[in-house]
Amino acid sequence: MVSKEQNVICMDQADPANIVIFGAAGDLTKRKLMPALYKMVHCGLVHPESKIIGIVNNRTDEVWLSLIKDGLKENLPEPMSEEMWQHFSDMLKMVPGDLADEETYSRLTNALEVYDGRKNAMFYCAIPPQWYGAAAIGLQNAGLVDEADGYRRIVIEKPIGTNLETAQKLNHEMQAVFDESQIYRIDHYLGKESVQNLLVYRFANGIMEPLWNRNYIDHIQISASETLGIEYRARYYEKSGALRDMIQSHLMQVMTLVAMEPPVEFTADAVRDEKMKVLRAVRRIDPDEDKHLSVAAQYASGQIDGETVPAYVSEEGVSPESATETFAAVKFYIDNWRWQGVPFILWTGKRLEKKVSEVVIRFRKPPFNLFDSHATVPKANALVFRLQPDEGIVLRMNAKMPGLTTDIQRMVMRAPYAHEGMHVSEAYEILLHDVLMGDATLFSRSDEIEESWDIVEPLIKSWQDRFSIERYRAGTWNVPAMDELLEGCEGGWHKPT
Ligand code: BG6
Repeated sequence: MVSKEQNVICMDQADPANIVIFGAAGDLTKRKLMPALYKMVHCGLVHPESKIIGIVNNRTDEVWLSLIKDGLKENLPEPMSEEMWQHFSDMLKMVPGDLADEETYSRLTNALEVYDGRKNAMFYCAIPPQWYGAAAIGLQNAGLVDEADGYRRIVIEKPIGTNLETAQKLNHEMQAVFDESQIYRIDHYLGKESVQNLLVYRFANGIMEPLWNRNYIDHIQISASETLGIEYRARYYEKSGALRDMIQSHLMQVMTLVAMEPPVEFTADAVRDEKMKVLRAVRRIDPDEDKHLSVAAQYASGQIDGETVPAYVSEEGVSPESATETFAAVKFYIDNWRWQGVPFILWTGKRLEKKVSEVVIRFRKPPFNLFDSHATVPKANALVFRLQPDEGIVLRMNAKMPGLTTDIQRMVMRAPYAHEGMHVSEAYEILLHDVLMGDATLFSRSDEIEESWDIVEPLIKSWQDRFSIERYRAGTWNVPAMDELLEGCEGGWHKPT
């Protein structure tokens, strides 16, 4: 349904629920969760009788409320009136306490609203992963896991582990308390509308399927380039690096959507079963061959938007000897009938020239050049899904240059994803709404997480003893090893324009 006033495609309104946030005074709550909930309340996706309950340590109600209000002012795209704040803040409730303290969970139990005899509750863990287990056990001991009197869903964020072993451990900890169907593992890339559009584009258009395979596609590049550095996250990033931070999670999830077979139905398990088959078919990398199949690099100082930015090793909290990669690329192969021999190059980097996330499908060149006698030769077609910003699809074709010759020029067809003035929902709005509706399609299942760790594990192991690393100047695409990685791929490295 389209609401004219808000230009929003309205989804269903969820039943009234208790939306409980652990870590409700933290950065994620302030920057992402509250603005998303505010917009959802505003456009009727959250039932007005719902309560947003923040578990907060060492702060008074007043301090917490003003922190949330400031966060909304900073992070909402449009100004918030006092009246709108009043309406939203009437839904907010603070429960003071520490996660490790049993009393906190008793207070939470008392704070939960009952709606027609049901205590529907979503528990969002906006806390470091080492605390997920404690929160789950606290909820269990307080009797807040059983679904006899309403649903109970727990939401956790990446990183789900730092390798296969720790991911398995965390999954076991959560599954010891909650049933897998109650666990929602957020990957915010799956909440991006443009990422979901990949599925609609593939499975709602009959013309793509015949082309979507090794017979027509030369290779695929899936990328997320950023201009930001690591900001205040040195402690996390030093241990994570770009491979864990972006490739094992977001980019590999996007790869599964690009490569999967059509599911039998559009339900959570049918979709996730197909994604899982892709991950199982990904060829495991042999570390001896590693150098031909991957690239790691780190930013040196340079200029971004005319400002000089420091090198990674000069960022606060980073060791001057650090060899952590801020740029990573891996060439994967999917060993199945559809994709045999087609490289999937996943790459990401911080402090690059532009912030762009894309999926680039490069087709094979025409088998024979009919126009060979002329200076210009046809280039391979490319279909580019721009995931952000300027979400949309671009098709690069060859066309005749106007004039009396048959010279060829590049023609670019662009289709923006949303019409002007239309609201493209933020990932967190979509994902929070899905949790309230009980739809887990856009959330990762435990087996997907473990399989993706299994895929990157050999690389992690071979990179962990590295002493030195190639450098690129911040604000540039100057990573020469990428040209080698893409050697033999039609058109080479696609740097976003
Ligand atoms: C996060 C990573 O998951 O995704 C960050 O931890 C990264 O390092 C961010 O900057 C990128 O998200 P987006 O939506 O801005 O592409």
